[in-house]
Amino acid sequence: MFNFWGTATLFLLLQSVLVTARLVGIPTVPFTESGYGDFSLADVKSIVVDSKYASATDDRGQTLIPPTLEDFATTFASDLGAALHSKIKVSKGEKGSSDAIFLTIGDAGDYLDAAGQETSEGYSLSVSSSGITITGASPLGAWWGTRTILQQLVLSDGHLPYGSAVDSPGWGTRGMMLDGGRHFYPPEFLIEICSYMSFFKQNTFHVHLSDNLFNNANYTREESLELYARFRLWSDSPAVAGLNKHKNESYTREQFDQVQSECAARGVTIIPEIEAPGHALVIVQWKPELGLEPDLSLLNISQPETIPTMELIWGTFLPWFHTKTVSIGADEYTGPADDYNRFVNAMSGYIGATSGKYIRIWGTFPPKKNYTNIYHNVSVQHWEFFDDDPYYDYILNGYSVLNSDDAFYVVNKWSGSYPQSVNLTRTFHGSPYGGDELWYPYIFNMNNKTDNPSRSNPLVLGEVAALWNDYGANASVYSEAYYAWREGIPALADKQWGGNLMESEFWSTFSKLHPAIPAQNLDRAIASKSSTIVKYAISSGNGYGAKGKSAVKDVSGNGYDAKTSCSRGSEGGIEISPSCSFTTPLSSKGRNYTLTLSLKINKLEDPTNTVVLAGGDSSLMLTPNITLFASGNYYRLNSSLPLGKSLKLSIIGQGNQTFAAVSGALPIGDTSAKQEFITRMGINGDYYHYAPMAIEAPLKQIGGAGCGWSGELFGMTLSNEA
Ligand SMILES: *[C@@H]1O[C@H](CO)[C@@H](O)[C@H](O)[C@H]1NC(C)=O
Ligand SMILES: *[C@@H]1O[C@H](CO)[C@@H](O)[C@H](O)[C@H]1NC(C)=O
Ligand SMILES: *[C@@H]1O[C@H](CO)[C@@H](O)[C@H](O)[C@H]1NC(C)=O
Ligand SMILES: *[C@@H]1O[C@H](CO)[C@@H](O)[C@H](O)[C@H]1NC(C)=O
Ligand SMILES: *[C@@H]1O[C@H](CO)[C@@H](O)[C@H](O)[C@H]1NC(C)=O
Ligand SMILES: *[C@@H]1O[C@H](CO)[C@@H](O)[C@H](O)[C@H]1NC(C)=O
Ligand SMILES: *[C@@H]1O[C@H](CO)[C@@H](O)[C@H](O)[C@H]1NC(C)=O
Ligand SMILES: *[C@@H]1O[C@H](CO)[C@@H](O)[C@H](O)[C@H]1NC(C)=O
Ligand SMILES: *[C@@H]1O[C@H](CO)[C@@H](O)[C@H](O)[C@H]1NC(C)=O
Ligand SMILES: *[C@@H]1O[C@H](CO)[C@@H](O)[C@H](O)[C@H]1NC(C)=O
Ligand SMILES: *[C@@H]1O[C@H](CO)[C@@H](O)[C@H](O)[C@H]1NC(C)=O
Ligand SMILES: *[C@@H]1O[C@H](CO)[C@@H](O)[C@H](O)[C@H]1NC(C)=O
Repeated sequence: MFNFWGTATLFLLLQSVLVTARLVGIPTVPFTESGYGDFSLADVKSIVVDSKYASATDDRGQTLIPPTLEDFATTFASDLGAALHSKIKVSKGEKGSSDAIFLTIGDAGDYLDAAGQETSEGYSLSVSSSGITITGASPLGAWWGTRTILQQLVLSDGHLPYGSAVDSPGWGTRGMMLDGGRHFYPPEFLIEICSYMSFFKQNTFHVHLSDNLFNNANYTREESLELYARFRLWSDSPAVAGLNKHKNESYTREQFDQVQSECAARGVTIIPEIEAPGHALVIVQWKPELGLEPDLSLLNISQPETIPTMELIWGTFLPWFHTKTVSIGADEYTGPADDYNRFVNAMSGYIGATSGKYIRIWGTFPPKKNYTNIYHNVSVQHWEFFDDDPYYDYILNGYSVLNSDDAFYVVNKWSGSYPQSVNLTRTFHGSPYGGDELWYPYIFNMNNKTDNPSRSNPLVLGEVAALWNDYGANASVYSEAYYAWREGIPALADKQWGGNLMESEFWSTFSKLHPAIPAQNLDRAIASKSSTIVKYAISSGNGYGAKGKSAVKDVSGNGYDAKTSCSRGSEGGIEISPSCSFTTPLSSKGRNYTLTLSLKINKLEDPTNTVVLAGGDSSLMLTPNITLFASGNYYRLNSSLPLGKSLKLSIIGQGNQTFAAVSGALPIGDTSAKQEFITRMGINGDYYHYAPMAIEAPLKQIGGAGCGWSGELFGMTLSNEA
């Protein structure tokens, strides 16, 4: 008999068992305490790698450059050492000890995913007075176990309860997709994102490497051929000469290799995407005869040179990619259905034959006629129900499907239809069962239970959430993509893994974990004893000269002393010119900050192109308007600085906005005290939208070659308050 109260009680009981038998982390970790004490991680002196498996690698994941168990151990030792402020050594041995973490490999058959299939990413953890053992189903599994240790170090005040865990991911593809086609991102940024993702056990970073702005039907042919369209890989091969015209916003093979290997070192595989036959304007700009009239962003597949051209491109770049699966895009193609299917199969055949790699396509438009003719080893990345039904169209026809439903889409900065950061509510409440039921990757349709496969359907690959740069490169700086994902990555990562972190637990857990994420400083945070991060009080005599002629003391107490090759100016400051420089040990500061320069500018070498202060992520310039140059774009105010007057110029980063303020002299062309740096976004060639910019403070250098101004610097202060 069905008894409501009985069921409810049983449910509560199960819930409380569930809650106690886990470690709160992101993702959560199933854990059974043995109940006899805890292990202090501060006691760990070394990582011992099981000598039998030190050089073992895993060939079951997507990566073709899998690190060995010893490689992962070495990276872990450096992360743990940094967290404990001690040196952790790595050795090989047959067993651990009470002051060591022992890493070994077990039987993959012990670790099952949501479909009940073996997963090489599982691990188990055993914590006792005789030490900690992490047993991975593979080296990668052990790596995820090391993330659990690092997280618990922060969350449990350095003490792990004695007990054990057996943990494995529900889904094998867990991660994010970045539109690098309509906005360039430097290699270092991609690597930092991988570090960030890896801490939360995400393993996939899909990078969209070619695209174009919306090709408005009102554009003339000439306008289309000039529209922003990019291909981000740079090859010197004559075969593709002219395909990419922007070397400074591209990845060379060496750079792309470095991104892939640094990401792989932290368990993250880069899945590259070269998009065609839609969103392919960059290819048509290279070979206009391949365009499908009237929309030149589409390829004409009937053109006899189209498929050979795509084979030439893939043939050039396939050797660059260290993954078993690549994405050929194949999204939003409005040309003939038969052509589409023929194209996809031709690419699958060519890529399979030349590299052994599988291809992935976006699920696009109410499936093209005869779409089941598409080879069944092609996986489908679902993104919107108006374009496909992942379950009825694909899964029930035997295709593997990756969930990239636009419920988790972000369009950078502004959009008429999508949010600017990941919708966290949906990770915690996006189940069609409602209430506090959590979302998981098998849930494509959040509104209708019957439209989804079962949790254990093996054709669900996992989830990858996408960020698109629909409105191009000047809409945002690099880090704004990170801020759009800052909370979304951990919130999604828990569910992609199969964790059960609740919304009520998320914020406190995340805020403790965030400062501990290794190998990245995407926030551009700077350690400081007080809200004043650095203060060079040059003209007070307190700084300059205090440590010898070339040192400028930081009087904030943080010790960020600067150096200068310039001499003292006539008014007590430092005499700045292109032939000498003032350099700090700092580079960049992210949200929130106030940077104040006290200075007098006497002369500009080129009034339209002067760098006042250069930094790692931005430069403060006079063009002649006060300008921040960041991520390849210029953001100008409506005012400039008067020459020959002592003044204080402040740049203020406040949340997702950036301002400038001038005191001591009115800026030319402006009467208000504070002006905001904004972007004028072009919306589909139709109209403009104005939006804030969040630009990091430049902190590295004043003066020197390339600066172009002469005058005097009296002081510089940076605080972490806006
Ligand atoms: C596509 O190419 C074929 C072959 O060159 C040509 O006959 C056809 O007109 C082209 N179609 C469009 C729409 O451009
Ligand atoms: C996928 O299937 C097609 C058609 O059978 C084949 O040509 C291709 O090589 C296969 N790809 C892989 C990686 O096996
Ligand atoms: C669908 O495929 C069948 C057989 O593969 C073929 O005869 C037919 O012409 C195709 N129809 C369309 C509209 O593509
Ligand atoms: C900027 O921050 C404000 C306040 O937090 C928020 O309402 C707004 O959505 C943010 N804008 C973007 C583009 O993220
Ligand atoms: C986030 O998702 C919830 C639940 O689907 C929805 O009600 C809300 O409008 C979404 N928020 C945004 C900004 O899209
Ligand atoms: C859910 O999906 C089923 C099958 O497609 C359909 O019959 C039903 O009407 C849908 N229910 C809702 C509430 O949309
Ligand atoms: C790349 O070069 C172009 C042309 O000189 C320039 O406009 C752009 O700002 C540069 N991009 C970056 C990221 O510096
Ligand atoms: C500059 O002035 C123009 C005209 O008043 C205004 O539209 C624009 O938003 C201003 N730009 C900035 C950065 O304030
Ligand atoms: C520079 O500022 C002036 C006002 O001083 C304004 O008219 C002009 O449009 C600005 N230039 C740019 C490129 O923003
Ligand atoms: C920056 O300040 C905004 C308010 O303007 C606040 O919401 C945000 O949390 C602050 N960010 C940081 C990193 O302190
Ligand atoms: C920014 O780029 C868009 C195209 O995406 C263009 O329409 C717009 O004019 C640009 N903004 C400025 C200030 O140049
Ligand atoms: C094309 O121009 C017409 C007339 O100006 C306008 O009504 C229409 O919205 C434009 N189409 C697009 C796609 O912008």
